[in-house]
Amino acid sequence: MARKGQASKMAATGDDAGARRHYLASMHTATTANAASPSRSTPADRFLALIYDPFLWLGERRALQARRGELLKQARGLTVEIGSGTGLNLAHYPSGLDQLVLAEPDPAMRRRLQRRAGRVVPQASVIDASAEQLPFADETVDTVVSTLVLCTVEAPELALQEIARVLAPGGQLLFIEHVRASTPARSFWQDALAGPWAAFAGGCRCNRPTVATIAECGFELDVSEAPWRGMPGIVRPLACGRARPFRAAGAV
Ligand SMILES: C[S@@+](CC[C@H](N)C(=O)[O-])C[C@H]1O[C@@H](n2cnc3c(N)ncnc32)[C@H](O)[C@@H]1O
Repeated sequence: MARKGQASKMAATGDDAGARRHYLASMHTATTANAASPSRSTPADRFLALIYDPFLWLGERRALQARRGELLKQARGLTVEIGSGTGLNLAHYPSGLDQLVLAEPDPAMRRRLQRRAGRVVPQASVIDASAEQLPFADETVDTVVSTLVLCTVEAPELALQEIARVLAPGGQLLFIEHVRASTPARSFWQDALAGPWAAFAGGCRCNRPTVATIAECGFELDVSEAPWRGMPGIVRPLACGRARPFRAAGAV
């Protein structure tokens, strides 16, 4: 997979080729039949998709852009991004991926994602899929990417089980998530404002202990915390890192 203007890699041979064929077949099925996703967006969904990039603008400039770049240079092989939103990660993927698949269940977000992907990484596939039900065979995906998504999915444990299912041995989950603060004052406000924030921010829960949830779901983690400058205090800190299912630990 390569960015616009660069040579595409698509180097799948032997066992890899089998897995890719399997994934492409599964993907086609799910693209046309994701019963969990609404087929039409509501005005509120469209408004959220419209203001998403401007709302994040300062937080991107002051913190997140650099973190996205640091994280995503580790992506490799068949890479599946869950909850891709408007595609703010797209500019940061390295060239040389075998394939990039962008999964986004919200139709309003997906329309913007498709437009941006067409400009920035035209070889990427955009699919309608939720994190709890990924259209890939077991152990076929090399990298799953989740940025600011496990705060929003209805069932993060189910999503993480699903990620563990599709990851190939040695596969990795790359993540940036805002998480519950460890300081009592900040976590108090996160709990107090969780309801109104979720109503404003499309279901985002600002008080989720996502790092603990990833570990409880059977991943080993390499994680660091950072402030999310330019954003409200209730969505700090950010947790950034890599996680692997225990069964994959030790493999490359
Ligand atoms: C805060 S946005 C993050 C977008 C993007 N990943 C980014 O870094 O800017 C959360 C995204 O998760 C998506 N989402 C919500 N529920 C989801 C689910 N169950 N599975 C996958 N994505 C979901 C939303 O539609 C939205 O695009």
